[in-house]
Amino acid sequence: MLDLLALWYDEREFFARYNRNDPTFRDELCLVAEDAGRIVGTVQIFARRINLAGQAVPMGGIGSVFVREDYRHRGLASELMRLAVRTMEREGFEVSLLFAERLTFYNRFGWREVTRNFSILSSAASLPASPALELDVFNPARDLETVARIHRDYSGRFNVTAIRSEADWRGNLVFAANVPKAGCGEYFVLAREDDAIRAYARALRFHGVAMVMEYGYEPGSESAVLAMLRNCAEAASGMETSMCLRGDHRKRALLQGESRAGAASVIVTHTEHDEALEEALTAAGCAPMHYPDNNYMWRVMLPERLAERFAMAPEAASEYAFSMFENSRSLFWTADRF
Ligand SMILES: CC(C)(COP(=O)(O)OP(=O)(O)OC[C@H]1O[C@@H](n2cnc3c(N)ncnc32)[C@H](O)[C@@H]1OP(=O)(O)O)[C@@H](O)C(=O)NCCC(=O)NCCS
Repeated sequence: MLDLLALWYDEREFFARYNRNDPTFRDELCLVAEDAGRIVGTVQIFARRINLAGQAVPMGGIGSVFVREDYRHRGLASELMRLAVRTMEREGFEVSLLFAERLTFYNRFGWREVTRNFSILSSAASLPASPALELDVFNPARDLETVARIHRDYSGRFNVTAIRSEADWRGNLVFAANVPKAGCGEYFVLAREDDAIRAYARALRFHGVAMVMEYGYEPGSESAVLAMLRNCAEAASGMETSMCLRGDHRKRALLQGESRAGAASVIVTHTEHDEALEEALTAAGCAPMHYPDNNYMWRVMLPERLAERFAMAPEAASEYAFSMFENSRSLFWTADRF
């Protein structure tokens, strides 16, 4: 299967990282089309649990949809998608998310595009850098417990976010920054005040832009996020940081990519879910611009299960789920992509 996917981006490792490091990966969720014993097409289901109205709902993420070029336009991908639907129903996935370019192809199998926005911060390099804060580098052995707790408390407040066990976290730390061609690697920063972690941010260069693919903070610590965004924006434009640093920040260079010093310091992230943070950004002269993500599609797989959870009729429960997928206060971090 990896040999087949290697034909896509000419990058076997990109797909291998998910399949080897995602603790939920299993053969039953890896669907293939075979001809004379050779695998010629695949669709994969990535198992996640997402927060919907306080419940951990099993979600199947559809990814790695690929058919060998000489086997295309014969309905193989369509048949694999129908098999994916049956598999998700059988395996108890109640909802499904996919990121698509060919929206109409997936419409045929019941997925619907949902509007959501990225946030573009064009002047984050001028955000305030509180002198009380120190920026440190994440060390899993030392910091994972605290960061996982901040993630649970912060991201857990929003609908649609993926829920992570410790095993999920360990896998996520390997594949979250997985980008075709660019390889794998993230700049994982902590903002400390009097040693205590107030906030964290996970940044990478994603298809040519500096992106903060996830962050979290303690209640009231918006300024710690602003400081980290400033540091990331400075890194993106090849500038030295104006913050007080601790630890080894060499991975900061990941954000700069190919650009020369002084290049644009634009940061892409998600902020729309968080009114308080958007207010703090706006007050600091860096109002986020919202930019639509046109690749985000959802489907309800098991309306009856949602009906039981939410104590409503199946159709109403499906509508309720979609109202959460569509709500601007909902959030799905890029770090949880598949
Ligand atoms: C996208 C992809 C998986 C489709 O695979 P496929 O097996 O050719 O898909 P299907 O045959 O089921 O459908 C493809 C098209 O062929 C048409 N088709 C289906 N059966 C057909 C048949 N018997 N005869 C002629 N055409 C047929 C479908 O209507 C469809 O039309 P569309 O191009 O307007 O959507 C394949 O093109 C691919 O691997 N692309 C590169 C990777 C990629 O882009 N993945 C998706 C990321 S979102």
